[in-house]
Amino acid sequence: MLERLQGLRSQAERELAAVADLGGLEAWRVAFLGKKGALTLALRDLGQIPSSERPAVGRLANEVKAALEQAYEARAEALRRSALAESLTRGAIDVRLPGRLQALGYLHVSTQTLREIYAILGQMGFHVLQSPEVEDDETNFQLLNMPPDHPARDMWSTFYLNRPGMLLRTHTSPGQIHAMRKYHPEPFRVILPGKCYRYEQVTVRSEYMFYQVEGMAVGYNITMADLKGVMFSFARQIFGPERKLRFRPSYFPFTEPSAEADIDCILCRGKGCVICKDSGWLEILGAGMVHPAVLRNGGYDPDQYSGFAFGMGPERIAMQKHGISDIRLFFGNDLRFLQQFA
Ligand code: FA5
Repeated sequence: MLERLQGLRSQAERELAAVADLGGLEAWRVAFLGKKGALTLALRDLGQIPSSERPAVGRLANEVKAALEQAYEARAEALRRSALAESLTRGAIDVRLPGRLQALGYLHVSTQTLREIYAILGQMGFHVLQSPEVEDDETNFQLLNMPPDHPARDMWSTFYLNRPGMLLRTHTSPGQIHAMRKYHPEPFRVILPGKCYRYEQVTVRSEYMFYQVEGMAVGYNITMADLKGVMFSFARQIFGPERKLRFRPSYFPFTEPSAEADIDCILCRGKGCVICKDSGWLEILGAGMVHPAVLRNGGYDPDQYSGFAFGMGPERIAMQKHGISDIRLFFGNDLRFLQQFA
């Protein structure tokens, strides 16, 4: 029996040394230490040997069992380590390495400009109101004093939709009607930002889709001086005190009198270039005193109330702030351009 146990131990140790993986190790454990394993069967035969031999055989049997169990644990640990080391070198995830940095998004230059505009006008008491991008002809034109066939409609080349009378708004001015109908009869100050669409030639200074921020103030005794004050204060804050803003007379059917404001062109420093059409100035907004007919369409009596409105182009403003020489870069999705404003 002693020889049997010694032989079993050497065989088990030999086979254990040859085990190459955790699957093989488990098979080894079942073969030698399992319920029907060779050592268990040998121990079961202990009862059949003479009692005089039993203490020595029993001692050896316990020794062999402890030695094999210890050898099993040591081999298991070694195999686990080498399996981990192999998986790490084979390109699996090395949990000890620092994680890869996720690229964070950032705000588009138009959005950044819009937020600057909100902040400046917000501190002057204007709050933001959203109005729809898909409009009807009535709100985009008729209620703004442009009945069907009014020649001024040609100022806004329009994308019409398949549904009769529906269009993509050509400017944010229909928001004036929404705002007046919402706040009537209270005095109010709002800005209405959003995208506008025009079926027009794309050039370095004009896109077919661009943002506008409409502004409107309605109340008692509001004058052109208030409009100019707001516009000049706005320009000083967004462009800095050294830049020049000029107001010149213009025409819009929904304001009377009407004006446009230009900023001195930073791209050519006033010498004249393709962006400013060789004038040294770039138009950034249209404005004026709200026409009495439009006030009436919004529910306000023009004999009691007056108001001003303006519509500015954030991309044109961003061009003049950052020296961007082509408006098509804004929505061309070239990351080399966009990342400069990250
Ligand atoms: C208007 O759209 C009027 N609704 C503005 C207005 C509002 C006047 C309230 C009076 C009272 P205009 O078409 O000029 O006006 O556009 C206003 C501004 O939007 C321009 O000064 C310019 O900054 C910007 N803009 C106009 N067309 C484009 C375009 N194609 N691409 C980029 N920006 C544009």
